[in-house]
Amino acid sequence: MTVSKKELRIGVAGAGRMGRIHIENIIEIRFVKVVAVCTPIESEQEWAIDFLGPETAVYSDYSDFIKADFEATLIVTPNKFHKEQVLEAIANGKHVFCEKPLAADARGAWEVYNKSLEYPHLKIACGFPRRYAPAYVEAAKKIRNGDVGEIITLRSQTTDLYMNNEYFVDYIKTSGGIFLDCNIHDIDACLFLMGTDETPVRAYATGTTNVFPVFKEFGDVDDGLGLIDFADGKVVNVYGSRDNKHAHHSMTEVIGTKGRILINGQPRLYTIDISDEMGTRMEGAKSQMDLLAPAFKAEILAFRDWILDGTEPNFNLKDAAKAVSIAEALMVSLKTKQAVEISLVK
Ligand SMILES: NC(=O)c1ccc[n+]([C@@H]2O[C@H](COP(=O)([O-])OP(=O)(O)OC[C@H]3O[C@@H](n4cnc5c(N)ncnc54)[C@H](O)[C@@H]3O)[C@@H](O)[C@H]2O)c1
Repeated sequence: MTVSKKELRIGVAGAGRMGRIHIENIIEIRFVKVVAVCTPIESEQEWAIDFLGPETAVYSDYSDFIKADFEATLIVTPNKFHKEQVLEAIANGKHVFCEKPLAADARGAWEVYNKSLEYPHLKIACGFPRRYAPAYVEAAKKIRNGDVGEIITLRSQTTDLYMNNEYFVDYIKTSGGIFLDCNIHDIDACLFLMGTDETPVRAYATGTTNVFPVFKEFGDVDDGLGLIDFADGKVVNVYGSRDNKHAHHSMTEVIGTKGRILINGQPRLYTIDISDEMGTRMEGAKSQMDLLAPAFKAEILAFRDWILDGTEPNFNLKDAAKAVSIAEALMVSLKTKQAVEISLVK
C-alpha cells in the first residue's frame, strides 16, 4: 500500500454501543476518515463532535445524512431500520457496510440482496466479525485445503455473559429473538466455513426460559437450540445463551470425514493460566468485543481495501440474506414446535 492512496470518506449511522466501537476503530485505520455521523440522540451527537472534532458533520435525520458528501456508509442502527437504510444508501450511490442482520426479516434481506445486484459498482457488505477473526480465517483456509476432509456437520455457539438489568431486558424485547440477534453469527460462521453456495432446507428449534421467564412474553428464550438441514445432507447445530456465568463464549466446531477443527475451544481473554491450590483457571472474555476484538478492526480494513483496491473480501451478501432466512425459520420453529421448511426468497 502506498502513502499517496486515496482516502475513503465514511458516514456512520448510529453511535450507540456498536457504532462507537466502529468509530473508535476507524480513527486508528489509515486512509479512512469518519466525516459524518447520524444519530437522533443529542448526547451521542455531542460525543461524536467531541471525539472526532468540530469539522464532523452531525445529522439527526438519516435521509439528510445519506445525501451528504462521503463515499461509504456504516449502518449501525437498530435492526428494524437496516433494510430501508441500506436501500436508501444504495439509491444515493454509497458503498455500504451494514451491521448484522442485513434486515429484520427474510423478505427484506432478499430485497436488499436483489437490489445490490443492480448496482455492481457499489460494494455492499454485511458485517459478521467472525469472517475476519484470525482463528476463523485460519480454520476456513484449512477446510478449503481439505484438512478435515468432507464436512459432515458443524456445531456453533454464541453464549453471552449473564446480565440482568433494565437495559438488557429492554434490548431483548425488540431484538427479534435469539436466533436472529445472536445465533445469526453462528449461522453465518458456518456458511463461511462451508464456503460453498449451500442451500438450507429445514429448521428445527427449541429453548428454555428457566433463567429469564419474562422472555416468554416476548416470544423469546434465554437458551436456544437449533438444527438446520442442508440440501446436500450437512447438518448445522447452533446454541445460544443469554446467561453464561463464566464468560462470553463464541465457538465453532467443524466435523469432517478426516478430522475436526475446534475454533475458540476456550473463551480466553488472555493467554494466561492461573494455577494455585484451587487448580488451574483462565480469565474469560466478558463480551464478543473482547473475544474477537481484532476482527472488528479487520472487517473495516477489508471493507476499505475492497472499495479502494478491489481486494476480494470475506463478506458474502447472499450468505447474509440466507442467514436471515434460516434465523427466521428457527424463530418460527421455536414458537410452533414444528420443523419449518426454508424457502429462500429470490
Ligand atoms: N457485529 C456484532 O457483533 C454486533 C454487536 C452488537 C450490535 N450489533 C448490531 O449493531 C446494531 C446497533 O446495535 P447497538 O447495540 O449499537 O444499538 P444501540 O441502541 O446502542 O445504538 C443504536 C444507534 O442507532 C441510532 N439510531 C436509532 N434510530 C436511528 C435512525 N433512524 N437513524 C440513524 N440512527 C439511528 C441510535 O441513536 C443509536 O446511536 C444492531 O444492528 C446490532 O445487531 C452487532
